[in-house]
This record gives sequence, structure tokens and C-alpha cells, in this order.
Amino acid sequence: MRKFVVAVVGATGAVGEEMIEILKEVDFPISELVPLASSRSAGGTVEFGEKEWTVSELTEDSFSEFGVEIALFSAGGSISEKYAPYAVEAGAVVIDNTSHFRMEKDIPLVVPEVNPDDIFDWRNRGIIANPNCSTIQMVQVLKPLQKYGLERVDVSTYQATSGAGKEAMEELGNQMKDFFEFKLDKSPHEQFPHQIALNVIPQIDKFMESDYTKEEEKMIFETQKILGMDLPVSATCVRVPTLRGHGESVTVRFADEVDADEVRELLRVSPNLIVVDEPEESAYPMPVVATGKDETFVGRIRSDLYDKRILHLWIVADNLRVGAATNAVRIAQKWIEEQV
Ligand code: A2P
Repeated sequence: MRKFVVAVVGATGAVGEEMIEILKEVDFPISELVPLASSRSAGGTVEFGEKEWTVSELTEDSFSEFGVEIALFSAGGSISEKYAPYAVEAGAVVIDNTSHFRMEKDIPLVVPEVNPDDIFDWRNRGIIANPNCSTIQMVQVLKPLQKYGLERVDVSTYQATSGAGKEAMEELGNQMKDFFEFKLDKSPHEQFPHQIALNVIPQIDKFMESDYTKEEEKMIFETQKILGMDLPVSATCVRVPTLRGHGESVTVRFADEVDADEVRELLRVSPNLIVVDEPEESAYPMPVVATGKDETFVGRIRSDLYDKRILHLWIVADNLRVGAATNAVRIAQKWIEEQV
């Protein structure tokens, strides 16, 4: 089998580390791993395939120098904006985890369980975008429900700190420590607009003209692009003091009445979904259940009390895996299937 030179841009970050872990787990055909990060991490090493690979500083020449064929980017939007074109110029396919290119017309925005063929869209300019973490887990569930005629989706999220990177997770940890030392009021917050320990913050990213946040707009417009329909969606995105695993309370309105039992059975056989829905056993998806997993967990599936066209669901997935690294690696796996 042909093997590929694979670069991970942001290899030392929360998502980058997860990407390397998943490449190992799926036994991705790699001839050479090229871990790239800032000058701060250059010279460090990453273990992969019984070898240690040295982390190099990302430069404009990194991709041509190492002959990179697949470049997984997760070092922030401005890094992708500047360096993805150099990767493409060097002949690599870019799979970009940032939001920078997502809404551009000639950039496919892909969740392999939903719209895998978009990877090969003729307009593709060599960059495939990985959607927002909260969008991915929601569209994986909405896709099988599309056959009932989706009319509207309302979602509230409960998003873990790791969505904001490693330093954000550390900030939560430091604040918790400060709480037990009775100095939480003096604990600094740099990663979030407010204290995150023992708090919830109904703001992720900046506010837009629409009065929605950028994160909320991402969920709305990305969902429409991936599902290929002008579906009315509203989102309220909330940061909660967990480390990993985003929760979502989702309300879906359909054209006709739907049966919750039938939906439960349909979701049970849908790709990469696990239904955990036994309320009498207190069994439902939670971040601690989803952490470290590559599936999306769905439960609390129930009909609305007043309108049988409305269904309520609770969805949880590991944001670093399903919502980022796993999706990116699945895109790469799909892409190599077509390379002979
Ligand atoms: P580094 O560790 O050298 O700073 P996270 O999302 O967990 O905060 O991780 C961000 C990732 O992006 C890290 O791997 C980080 O590398 C990388 N990164 C940040 N700034 C740059 C940069 N200017 N050039 C290359 N990589 C960068």
C-alpha cells in the first residue's frame, strides 16, 4: 500500500496531539511524520511508529522541504490563512481544522458520515475544511433524520474548555486549585471573558452584528452548508467548566409527526452514533462517557409534549476527537482511498 508524508501543523497543541494519536490508532499509511509547531516547541520530539520524530518550526518552506503530501492544520486561523497556500503550492492536500476557509464556496466542508463526496468537489482548491466541533456532532445526528423532512433546529451547547486549547484547560485547573485555597476571586482569567471555574459563560468567541456570537453563527451556517439546505437553525453556545466533551440540547421540528422509538432505532444503526437512552437506569450521554471515544453519543430522545412534529435530543461527543482530530483523519482516509 502507498504510504504518505503527513504533516501535523500545531502538533504540540490539544488537537494536534490527538491527531497524531488517532493516526497511530487507525494505522494510517505514513512514510514520514512531519510535526510542525512554533519555534517554542522546535527540537522536541513526537513518538510515532516506534520512532521519534523531531518537531520543526513551521516556515513557508516546511512543506516543500519535507515533500509533504497531506497536511493536517490545527494551529489557529491566522496560521492556516498564511501557511495553507504554501502547503498547496508544494503539492499537499490540506485538511484544515480552523474556521478560516470553511465558508468559502470552493472549499468543501466535510463530515465523512454526512457529505463525503464533497471532498472530491471539482471546485476543491486543495483545501478541505473540518467543521466546528459543535457542528460536527450535531450534523452526524441530523443527517439520518433528514428523511423525515427537517424544518427547524434549535440548539444550546455545553462546551468544554479544551475547545479553547490547552492553556484554557490549564486556566480551569488553576482556578479550581485557587478555589480550594480560598483565592478564586484573585485567580486570573485570560482565556475566557470571565472566571470559568464554578461558572458557565454564555459567550464563545466574539459577538457579531446579528447579536449571535461567532461560534453560534458557525453552527448555523456550517450546518446549512454541510447538509446542503437552507435549514433555519438557532444556536446558543455556552462554555462550561468541563475539560473534554461538548454537550448539546437539540430541538428539531419536522414536516410531519415523528415517533421517538423509531428515531431511536434509526440512530442506533447510523454510522458512528451510539444511542445511550435508558432513563430508568439513569443512562444517557455525558462528557465522562464520551471522552476518548470516536463515536457521538445520543440520548434523552423524546417527543415534545405539545407538538408531535418536535423531537428533543441530547448529544455528547469528545470535541478534540469527533469534533476535530477524528473527523480530520477520517477525511484523510477518504481522500487516500481515491489516490492510486
Ligand atoms: P506551540 O506549542 O509551539 O506554541 P492549542 O490549541 O492547544 O493552544 O495549540 C496550538 C498549537 O498551534 C500548538 O501546537 C502551537 O505550537 C501551534 N502554534 C501556535 N502559534 C504558532 C505559530 N506561529 N507557528 C506554528 N505553530 C503555532
